[in-house]
Amino acid sequence: MTPQMPLGTGFGPRSTARDVLRDRRLDGLRVVITGGSAGVGLETTRALASAGANVRVGARSQAKAREALAGVANVEIDSLDLADPASIDAFAARTLASDRPVQVLLNNAGIMAVPLSRDARGFESQLATNHLGHFQLTARLWPALVAARGARVVTLSSRGHVRGAIDLEDPMFVRRPYDKWVAYGQSKTANALFAQAHRARYPCKRTCALRPVTRWERRKARRPGSGSGPSTSNTNRRP
Ligand SMILES: NC(=O)c1ccc[n+]([C@@H]2O[C@H](COP(=O)([O-])OP(=O)(O)OC[C@H]3O[C@@H](n4cnc5c(N)ncnc54)[C@H](OP(=O)(O)O)[C@@H]3O)[C@@H](O)[C@H]2O)c1
Repeated sequence: MTPQMPLGTGFGPRSTARDVLRDRRLDGLRVVITGGSAGVGLETTRALASAGANVRVGARSQAKAREALAGVANVEIDSLDLADPASIDAFAARTLASDRPVQVLLNNAGIMAVPLSRDARGFESQLATNHLGHFQLTARLWPALVAARGARVVTLSSRGHVRGAIDLEDPMFVRRPYDKWVAYGQSKTANALFAQAHRARYPCKRTCALRPVTRWERRKARRPGSGSGPSTSNTNRRP
């Protein structure tokens, strides 16, 4: 296992996207983000777009995404369902059609601890959406990422990865009983390993996995006397 160590950026659980950006401009940068119209992805889209980046948002429901991103400039919304390989291919093909490099790919979308369901291939939905969909999307967008000469690929993992290693004998929960947290953990372990493997294979090394600080951790960090690093304690709160 790779030892975990702080990156030394000076940012912590209290930092916001705007703190990180400060007055930096990102004009001319092309970003593709999955799930960029809700939660962490929505904030990320807003921050990047307000700094001038052109943000292409892949969303299951274009209507919902348009509503969430109403009034945000520099954003284009296109249809993408990560549980549907044909939808991923079509989204990637439309992205490549513009012939513009993609400098940043944010593999952000995710589902968490959902009851057992399977996609049309019979794949368990959390592994299919959170990992396999992003794997396919990254592969399909590869020409545009290479064209950017040093593109970043950022994949959202979670502290929840500790709840599930990858079971190579039965990744789709065919023989073992389904546990929604184990399945989420497995998908988030896959996200982290994907980033690690990507980094090992491609020398540009601008690939990483991250795990967002949860609301609970942020509240904890605000308490007087608390350290600035995220908690490592095991709780039932959102991983
Ligand atoms: N928030 C946290 O505290 C936290 C902590 C640890 C890790 N994370 C990770 O951070 C990422 C974002 O989490 P979040 O809290 O922002 O989640 P969220 O608020 O539930 O938003 C998830 C986004 O993913 C999209 N999505 C889900 N299934 C999809 C599919 N099949 N195809 C395309 N898009 C799909 C959703 O679209 P719809 O709007 O159509 O549903 C939504 O836009 C996830 O990968 C999660 O595992 C979050």
